[in-house]
Amino acid sequence: MNYPGEFAKLCSLDDIYEGESKLFEVKKYEILLLNIKGNIRAYYARCAHALGLLDENSFDGEGKIICPVHLWEYNALTGESENPKESTLFPLEVKIEGNDIFVKVPSIPVLEFKTKWFGMYRRGVLNGTGINS
Ligand code: FES
Repeated sequence: MNYPGEFAKLCSLDDIYEGESKLFEVKKYEILLLNIKGNIRAYYARCAHALGLLDENSFDGEGKIICPVHLWEYNALTGESENPKESTLFPLEVKIEGNDIFVKVPSIPVLEFKTKWFGMYRRGVLNGTGINS
């Protein structure tokens, strides 16, 4: 996914073990960072359903992110929803330099981001699923 933004250092590889997740905040963006069997992923830490916060406890340590609010399930590697289907988390690009983990944070203000991104899902992907009708 391509979007304007800047990379911010979150932590080092030594700070996040396999099966672990951490929640960060950069420029008011909540970021969920995951280590999935050695694969580092980052997502905007808000659920596509109703903005539930996906904190460290949302990650099952293996392959799923489960929103604590209404229990939507996402594939931790891809961010795509599994239950229900046809939705996705917003993936944030990860860059590893040496031992440091950087994540690309969108450059627009977070309120504008929320309006645009979740508005898109309300009009598009989620319509027709019966979830929001
Ligand atoms: S807010 Fe996440 S499942 Fe409803």
